[in-house]
Amino acid sequence: MKIEEVKSTTKTQRIAVHSHIKGLGLNEEGYALSSAQGLVGQELAREAAGIVIELIKSKKMAGRAVLLAGPPGTGKTAIALAIAQELGSKVPFCPMVGSEVYSSEIKKTEVLMENFRRAIGLRIKETKEVYEGEVTELTPVETENPMGGYGKTVSHVVIGLKTAKGTKQLKLDPSIYESLQKEKVETGDVIYIEANSGAVKRQGRSDTYATEFDLEAEEYVPLPKGDVHKKKEVIQDVTLHDLDIANARPQGGQDIMSMMGQLMKPKKTEITDKLRKEINKVVNKYIDQGIAELVPGVLFIDEVHMLDIECFTYLHRALESTIAPIVIFATNRGKCVIKGTEDIVAPHGMPLDLLDRIMIIKTLPYSKDEMIQILKIRAQTEGNSIGEESLGELGTIGVKSTLRYANQLLTPASILAKINGKDSIGKDEVDEINELFYDAKSSAKILAEQEDKYMK
Ligand SMILES: Nc1ncnc2c1ncn2[C@@H]1O[C@H](COP(=O)(O)OP(=O)(O)OP(=O)(O)O)[C@@H](O)[C@H]1O
Ligand SMILES: [Mg+2]
Repeated sequence: MKIEEVKSTTKTQRIAVHSHIKGLGLNEEGYALSSAQGLVGQELAREAAGIVIELIKSKKMAGRAVLLAGPPGTGKTAIALAIAQELGSKVPFCPMVGSEVYSSEIKKTEVLMENFRRAIGLRIKETKEVYEGEVTELTPVETENPMGGYGKTVSHVVIGLKTAKGTKQLKLDPSIYESLQKEKVETGDVIYIEANSGAVKRQGRSDTYATEFDLEAEEYVPLPKGDVHKKKEVIQDVTLHDLDIANARPQGGQDIMSMMGQLMKPKKTEITDKLRKEINKVVNKYIDQGIAELVPGVLFIDEVHMLDIECFTYLHRALESTIAPIVIFATNRGKCVIKGTEDIVAPHGMPLDLLDRIMIIKTLPYSKDEMIQILKIRAQTEGNSIGEESLGELGTIGVKSTLRYANQLLTPASILAKINGKDSIGKDEVDEINELFYDAKSSAKILAEQEDKYMK
């Protein structure tokens, strides 16, 4: 089997307003500290999330689902992102918003399926026979073109590789010269060449050259230990979606899992169900052989009430399949009509049979003190300085409206403070901005009062 670099296709996350969150802030026993890693209060929900993480790590959660439910601005999205941070980069975490499924080009279930596969990881371990070392010499040897004509061709390449233990000179096939050129290998780089496939991987520049430039984008790696010719364990983390994409693209080059490539016919341009089935087959075979290990990750569907009955039915079925991630939902809806149905009212706008298999974590409204603490952290993260008194005022506003509304006042208030020539947000600015803008509740109230003045 040959596994080349499969490009990762992770999505960038919606985290700008959550950039202060670094984790769940639990102690070693799993209890929530009142304020840690950017999270404040909401202790029970955080502890519950901690248990979910334990379950995920011990791989007891695949195919299960969790719902974060609570009023707007109570930290549901924040906690989900904290879970992602706690899981680390090796466990896939795929965030999406319910409304993402609505597109005129792609079927709803297709979007869900893609995200499902983004949330399932595969860790592939392989022992490979390689030649590894720092390149000391790289000489293509040319001969007359044996086919006649004028040009010369490369007949072979001589390459010198150095490790801490010794050096070795190799005579290589001209096809490997092409791979060397593709990877832009120069003398002084640390590379390895796979013995049976001839694939070349450039690992970085040898750190003896670390002071070459003043500013550099290079990665410097130490001189490899051991012999030049050796067995090396190569570990690669990919998601099923990465594999789908890599094999759906027209083939060529070495940026694909070539073993997979052999199974699939070339020139595929879209991911079909058939392709996925074939990939699953190969993946299952790898798992049986002990070459690969399944890493069920997390699919986070925020604002899940945006999904309709068709999506829910599909999700329910997908959760039953053998290869499934852990799904975390979040919603701020109470009882409401399930989208796509005439009048089926259900808690959180989710079908009862799906709800029935879900563990629900509740988030509760914050106290004024907690709001103030959170607002303080946000102000720091955004680089706005704000006094205690104005924070208190914002906290009061937060209790009356929502935390998010109070949060959103921070930036305009800081701009106003600048205009007023102050270097920190005062109570005046907070009050002025609060008068200029409305939160959802007061806007709704005004609408109700002045109903007759608006167009219907
Ligand atoms: N316990 C907390 N500690 C620190 N920051 C928090 C906490 N809870 C919420 N926040 C921050 O407050 C803001 C609003 O919270 P968040 O977006 O998570 O609410 P939500 O419950 O997802 O609301 P909605 O239902 O409207 O989606 C975010 O910037 C979030 O990072
Ligand atoms: Mg949210």
